[in-house]
Amino acid sequence: MRIETFEMERMQSTWENIVEYDLSESGVRPLSLRELMAMGFDLEKFLDVPLGYSQSNGTLELREALTQIYPGATVDHIEVTNGTSEANYLVALSQIRAGDGFALETPNYMQLWGVPRSLGADTRTFRLRLEHCWEPDWDDFDRAVTEKTRLLYVSNPNNPTGSVLSDNAMKRIVDRCEKTGTYLIADEVYQGAEVAGDRTKSFWGMSDRVIVTSGLSKAWGIPGVRIGWIVGPKELIAECWAQHDYLTIGPNKLSDQIAKIAVQPENRQKCYARTREVLNHNLGIAREWIGSFGGFLEWREPQAGAIALVKYHSDIPSVELCERIRTRQSTLIVPGKQLGVEGFVRIWLGGREAYLREGFRRIGEEFRALQ
Ligand SMILES: Cc1ncc(COP(=O)(O)O)c(C=O)c1O
Repeated sequence: MRIETFEMERMQSTWENIVEYDLSESGVRPLSLRELMAMGFDLEKFLDVPLGYSQSNGTLELREALTQIYPGATVDHIEVTNGTSEANYLVALSQIRAGDGFALETPNYMQLWGVPRSLGADTRTFRLRLEHCWEPDWDDFDRAVTEKTRLLYVSNPNNPTGSVLSDNAMKRIVDRCEKTGTYLIADEVYQGAEVAGDRTKSFWGMSDRVIVTSGLSKAWGIPGVRIGWIVGPKELIAECWAQHDYLTIGPNKLSDQIAKIAVQPENRQKCYARTREVLNHNLGIAREWIGSFGGFLEWREPQAGAIALVKYHSDIPSVELCERIRTRQSTLIVPGKQLGVEGFVRIWLGGREAYLREGFRRIGEEFRALQ
């Protein structure tokens, strides 16, 4: 199976450990095991866990804990995976046949652009619009999601805009899926990483056409644990498990154990609270910095996620601009092009203050040279 390069991931893995300032990330600064222990996670008993194979679809205890987050789900509605990315991949792999229709919003995390195309799906996009508070262009949406569309992929909260869909928009998306017989993959990995206000509503439970993917990478701040999950109709979960057996067999045993502790309600809230604190602190710094360009930079503040999608008023293509910032300033950010939108860049907001400020200063030098 041939597959095109996943431009953003390859760009990050090539440069993120080489540049002096990596502002290409999207979650809050990751926690260490020591920090998790200081937050009250009981990790001591790990030392006695025999490092055998784990339950390939996730231990019963972990899946039981996850059912608490998704009302109505049983352990058979859940598959635990190696990160949200494997969750998305397994759904695509198990459901797409050559010639099927696939739709996704842009801008987006573009994993489910390359994967469905490699599986022979007729892959279409519909735009989210800054001038509509990053809600879908509904004409585009109706054109992209038809009776031929087997799967529709949205990220909510969205990467890279950080926006959260309104109740109306969610209903409209689900209604369309019911009408066209489409499965919705709702990637909710940023749920719990809201800057303020209520937790983002889950699509789970709105229809039997809904599949949710998520994981510990963003709101929990522990992407290196590599735990994600799929919540969906039982038969579909069984099909994903069948693919999982061939792909990685299952998640790693230590990670399953950490996840079991991390998803307990009290620990979950602690991680969410820490994420919110980091985001609130850093958003103020970003607001001031963006404002200092006097209209040259434009954005809608993210509602969730450690990400700022910033429009710059210049004709320079985003890939060229980011290359310039990397080579001249040793600072990495993501070109909009790699997220399905030109004329924008995505900048990380999840780091420590001094790191963030120096990264902004370096990026700012190149923006000012364009002004
Ligand atoms: C929307 C979205 N889904 C999935 C992923 C991958 O997540 P994970 O690290 O849990 O595999 C990302 C990573 O940035 C993302 O933004």
